[in-house]
Amino acid sequence: MNKLIVAGICFFLSIPQVSEAQHTVFEPGKVWNDTEGNPINAHGGGILYHEGTYYWYGEYKKGKTVLPEWATWECYRTDVTGVSCYSSKDLLNWKFEGIVLPAVKDDPNHDLHPSKVLERPKVIYNRKTGKFVMWAHVESADYSKACAGVAVSDSPAGPFTYLGSFRPNDAMSRDQTVFVDDDGRAYQFYSSENNATMYISLLTDDYLKPSGRFTRNFIKQSREAPAVFKHDGKYYLITSGCTGWDPNVAEIAVADSVLGEWKTIGNPCTGPDADKTFYAQSTYVQPVVGKKDAYIALFDRWNKTDLENSLYVWLPVLIENGKIVIPWQDKWNLDVFK
Ligand code: DGJ
Repeated sequence: MNKLIVAGICFFLSIPQVSEAQHTVFEPGKVWNDTEGNPINAHGGGILYHEGTYYWYGEYKKGKTVLPEWATWECYRTDVTGVSCYSSKDLLNWKFEGIVLPAVKDDPNHDLHPSKVLERPKVIYNRKTGKFVMWAHVESADYSKACAGVAVSDSPAGPFTYLGSFRPNDAMSRDQTVFVDDDGRAYQFYSSENNATMYISLLTDDYLKPSGRFTRNFIKQSREAPAVFKHDGKYYLITSGCTGWDPNVAEIAVADSVLGEWKTIGNPCTGPDADKTFYAQSTYVQPVVGKKDAYIALFDRWNKTDLENSLYVWLPVLIENGKIVIPWQDKWNLDVFK
């Protein structure tokens, strides 16, 4: 073959073959492909911004959704396959970084065995230790374990080393998130007491354990799916009611300090199906770095009989006359923020 043709073929093969067109808008509730053209698989997730890059971690729900034959309620599940990570510079186009905390297939007693449940992973960065710390809800298939699991890594894209699980402050821990305040203190928010009461727990300085200081909030109000952010010196917490995989109305609460006292101020969602949180459930709120008063609310639109194909509903959090609102948008981009 002619040398020139060979050189041409080699040059073509050396160009990364990106099959997916660049996204320029968020389309809530539509299939969202990563940069390789595969649907993003990061459910119940959260975002970490680190050194110019956003990292999105979530439940990698791969494979068939099943309802165990012993089930007396709709505890649809997929096998645990691990926690996925995607990276992005613009929050729209996400590159798959791989499974950063994999399932442990060879030990049926391990928290990360496929037969268990792993939900709502979140990662925070500890400036003092230089470690990336993941907190997640680790469960038995019948949801009786109600524990938090912790893993660490030296790099945002993993791999994470699993440290183990426990009931923080000796209390049940199911839906959960973690939040780092401006002063570097970190907190775990978790549905406890059989989901009746939301605990907010100050973590130790290394973010690996509860410090022992915690508050009980929304007592007997059955809130889950916590997503927290800070705006203008106040703390805001979006939660859902407890209706399994089915949608319900969201609520937002406000507080002057993370540990409370929290005051519920209503449903932040507006527009069609706002009373069902747009058929989705909160999981995280991410500030847009470099834009003032710009936050994105992340929700999961669960497909309970096909959890892998659950969709994402990301919407801008707008501040209208000092009030927090999350209006439905078919399509939007970051220009929505002034
Ligand atoms: C609602 C929770 O928010 C989800 O994370 C999951 O635990 C389902 N319940 C299970 O039914």
